[in-house]
Amino acid sequence: MKNNRVFVLGGTGFVGQHLLYRLSRAGIFCRVPTRHPERHRQLRLIPGCELCAISGWETAQLAAAMAGCSTLINLAGILNEVGGRTFDQTHVKLVETAIHAAIQAGVTRYLHLSALGANAESGLSDYLRSKGRGEALAFAAARQGLAVTSFRPSVIFGPGDSFFNRFARLLRLLPGPFPLACPNARFAPVYVGDVADAMLRCLDDPDTHGQIYELCGPRAFTLRELVIYAGERIGREAWVIDLNDRLSQLQAQLFQRLPGKPFTLDNYLTLQVESVCQHAGLKALGIVATAIDDIVPDYLA
Ligand SMILES: NC(=O)c1ccc[n+]([C@@H]2O[C@H](COP(=O)([O-])OP(=O)(O)OC[C@H]3O[C@@H](n4cnc5c(N)ncnc54)[C@H](OP(=O)(O)O)[C@@H]3O)[C@@H](O)[C@H]2O)c1
Repeated sequence: MKNNRVFVLGGTGFVGQHLLYRLSRAGIFCRVPTRHPERHRQLRLIPGCELCAISGWETAQLAAAMAGCSTLINLAGILNEVGGRTFDQTHVKLVETAIHAAIQAGVTRYLHLSALGANAESGLSDYLRSKGRGEALAFAAARQGLAVTSFRPSVIFGPGDSFFNRFARLLRLLPGPFPLACPNARFAPVYVGDVADAMLRCLDDPDTHGQIYELCGPRAFTLRELVIYAGERIGREAWVIDLNDRLSQLQAQLFQRLPGKPFTLDNYLTLQVESVCQHAGLKALGIVATAIDDIVPDYLA
């Protein structure tokens, strides 16, 4: 492998941890920046994975941390603006800073994790617009010598995910009626291992430079179907009460006032866009998409 020293921004999260194991198995060295190395010390157990303490996300600090790496993989992202983090800061400014730092550090390859529906101008939510702006910045960096590939996944599942695990937890806690906002929102859940494999395949392949890969699982489902599915896997029959549009918005208005903002009006807007692929990115990369049934029962049980 040519690009065998990788800097994984956002490598401490759900996708990051799975990706680090795949990169490690492929013999690729990974460096993961974090402000809290002690919180993520389990990552040090991954062969060839180095945690790098960073005091801030400024260009100089990031460039120093990237020294010796050939590739930047950016997984940093948030679903809600909590804990002082904003969409603009995380999905736009951090991308800009990381790209400047990468160029300073002599990095030549950039893999960017975006999201289905990302669109800088016409994205329906702040989340989708900010993801679109970040992706546009990534591709603009090609003019400065970075070879860029972006990935747009639907909702990602796998051990440790915050989708099936969250609904399973809620169903365990609330055995009664389950009022569900946006029950007809559509997704094609994609396995985190397939997302990681897609990135790995692209790393050294010049044909993938400048490309966007939409990443979906083999089947699309409504949110309602997925909640019922999660219930079945944990032996709970989900008594789903479909909320109409007005009640879904009302639920978002209430829940965004709760600690951690479990559901916001911006999430409601994101769910108005179908999270299904127009182009089968996994197939284009020679990867057979994994079905939820092959993976989810093991970790929800
Ligand atoms: N999971 C999905 O279903 C899904 C679907 C579509 C797209 N995506 C995209 O995939 C990427 C990875 O998702 P994930 O599920 O792995 O998310 P995650 O578990 O929440 O991890 C996010 C990572 O980003 C880092 N991060 C967030 N905000 C940051 C900031 N302002 N500055 C520096 N680091 C920051 C976090 O660092 P800390 O450890 O410091 O928190 C963490 O390492 C995100 O860009 C997300 O938008 C995910």
